[in-house]
Amino acid sequence: MTKPLLDVRDLAVAFDTDGGAVHAVNGVSYTLREGETLGIVGESGSGKSVHVLAMLGLIPRPPGRITGGQVLFEGRDLLALKERELQKIRGGAIGFVFQDPMSSLNPGMTVAAQIVEPLRIHLGLDARGARARAKDLLDLVRIPNAAARLDQYPHEFSGGQRQRVMIAIGLSCRPKLLIADEATTALDVTVQAEIVALVQELKRELGMAIIWITHDLGVVAGISDTVQVMYAGRILERGPVDDIFADPRNAYTLGLLRSLPDLSGSRAGRRRLHQIEGAPPDMRHLPPGDPFAPRNAFATPRCRAEMPPLSQAHGAAPGHLVAAWYDLPKLLAAEAVR
Ligand SMILES: Nc1ncnc2c1ncn2[C@@H]1O[C@H](COP(=O)(O)OP(=O)(O)O)[C@@H](O)[C@H]1O
Ligand SMILES: [Mg+2]
Repeated sequence: MTKPLLDVRDLAVAFDTDGGAVHAVNGVSYTLREGETLGIVGESGSGKSVHVLAMLGLIPRPPGRITGGQVLFEGRDLLALKERELQKIRGGAIGFVFQDPMSSLNPGMTVAAQIVEPLRIHLGLDARGARARAKDLLDLVRIPNAAARLDQYPHEFSGGQRQRVMIAIGLSCRPKLLIADEATTALDVTVQAEIVALVQELKRELGMAIIWITHDLGVVAGISDTVQVMYAGRILERGPVDDIFADPRNAYTLGLLRSLPDLSGSRAGRRRLHQIEGAPPDMRHLPPGDPFAPRNAFATPRCRAEMPPLSQAHGAAPGHLVAAWYDLPKLLAAEAVR
């Protein structure tokens, strides 16, 4: 068992708005080991982005407020660090890649200038050293003819290549943890698959831990060791990737799985695709119990009254945790005989 790298403990974040406090993250706890890839999935608004932004000290305060918790990175609580210390970690030991490289890359600066800057700040390289490393980084993310392309501007790269540049920047200071938030969402499916394959190769070469955030469960299948399903600012299920796909225990996870197109051609896979009915809750007025209960056909009165704890799922793989008062496999078996 490798060492824990990141230990998130009961993290809670709220935003003060005219309509009241938006409870964006509501007690999120998990551990990430060195070299582990964690896929975090959930519909839009489930608190995926806000919880990582909060860790990195990047939520606007106000209106944002961290209302509780700790985020231990290599044993140090990121939430207790001064902004200056946090800056050293951001883009240093923790690299990140966000959606839409067109808005994250500066259109008025060459790619070289944008890669070189973090190298000079974090690694203290001189201009020549930083440029040499920038070229190596473009090679690393498989951009052909890297030396010549360094002096081009973002608009001269395709969408997929821009995302590769963003990954190069994310990796520039040899992070122990790379956080990618919807990093392939803006790309078409083929390019998305290429980026995912690239990240898998880079992970084998560099061995960093990864948090890969996406609303698309299909994307995490090929990349994750562990999958974590978030809803309404909570973790509803978490476990080894194969076990999550083969043996989901939360009705929300099942809904996400059933809304995936199945390319295997199997009979089960040809069932009609269905979207999860209803909409995520209003984060200002969360329901008292399981937040997914109002959309869950399997919900019991207890689900509507009391939040289930996240705990080991009975008979599932070790480390497969679920927050549910109902026994999903049993309910599905009963449904199948009807
Ligand atoms: N600056 C903000 N002010 C008010 N509410 C916000 C702000 N940023 C995010 N939120 C709210 O926090 C919740 C979680 O958002 P987010 O983490 O971005 O979701 P996800 O990344 O899972 O799609 C949402 O309800 C969103 O509306
Ligand atoms: Mg997001």
